[in-house]
Amino acid sequence: VSELLDRYRAAAAACDDRVVGSPRRTPAQVFARLAEVAEELGLTQLDRYAEHGAVELLEREVAELFGRPAAVFFPTGTAAQQSALRVWCERRGSRRVALPDLAHQLHHEEDGPRLLHGFRFEPLTTGWQTPTVADLDAVADPERLGAIQLELPLREAGCVLPTWEELVELSDRARALGVPLHVDGARIWESQPHLDHTLAEIGALTDSLYVSFYKGLGALSGAAVVCDEDVAAELRVWRKRHGATPYALSPYAVDALRGLREELPYVGDWVAWARALADALVARGLRTTPVHTNTFLVAAEADPDTVTERVLEHLARTGVVASLPWRPAQAPGTALTEVVVARPALAHDPETVAEWYATFTA
Ligand SMILES: Cc1ncc(COP(=O)(O)O)c(C=O)c1O
Repeated sequence: VSELLDRYRAAAAACDDRVVGSPRRTPAQVFARLAEVAEELGLTQLDRYAEHGAVELLEREVAELFGRPAAVFFPTGTAAQQSALRVWCERRGSRRVALPDLAHQLHHEEDGPRLLHGFRFEPLTTGWQTPTVADLDAVADPERLGAIQLELPLREAGCVLPTWEELVELSDRARALGVPLHVDGARIWESQPHLDHTLAEIGALTDSLYVSFYKGLGALSGAAVVCDEDVAAELRVWRKRHGATPYALSPYAVDALRGLREELPYVGDWVAWARALADALVARGLRTTPVHTNTFLVAAEADPDTVTERVLEHLARTGVVASLPWRPAQAPGTALTEVVVARPALAHDPETVAEWYATFTA
């Protein structure tokens, strides 16, 4: 299987034309564009330990987008979220954090949040569902939680979102309990069209909101936490303690500023294209998770490795990366893949792509 994945990665990395993911960029293209954007932005100095320069500009822009007083840039979302939860838990005198059991911290952070911070995670939901107020009410002693975390969208469940009303209810209940609401908004840009409210209206529901610059926005790396000034000051201390305040972060911040300008205005088009593809897939007998963002899961009754082999054959023949690798789903004889729609997909017709997927899984 890993030999197949290696072949997939090597073949996909050599292809410019793709249906899934952000545009391919060579290192030289990335660095050349950084220089151009730095000039366009009129930057005259590098940041120093995340102060001044592009980092300051990015933090101001992001805070403004979400209508909040402050934003703190982090090189990774992992450090950003551990810092945010630590700030709340210190203030609250409780290490209990309620979150969906599919949260990033529980699956992709090598147990760091527990080992480094002693968080006690309690499941708000189990599996492919987004939390509601009823789930929060079912947590023991909710008023003694250190923080509540939502993930918008819930990535491991196919990037599904609550309704706006459910989100407002959760925010109201967290406030009534006096428990800070932290949002994992790694894909919040991609969630905005479905929530159908402005980023500032979304930001107003949260006490801290983490955003990522390298998923939909396609930047090199990087994250920010949007919050109040006093929280931001504490976050900067925890960022230092994490060893996550290097001498200069400008390349990441400049690429994030580029992503906000070049990609963010088009996210709505990606979501619409994703919906069109999902409809065309369902019409051909494949199954999908509900399409709330630019990303969803597709399932078919097929052997995952066989499907991935067909994707590779198609790639060799046409030069198009039509899909990500397929993996076994939690149902016998079922293959699953994640479809991530960004700028490159828009050059393709969703009906044609759906036809390819039907052939791969036949
Ligand atoms: C939902 C979610 N939260 C947090 C993270 C962590 O971000 P980073 O890779 O910047 O540490 C990711 C990254 O994939 C993510 O998908």
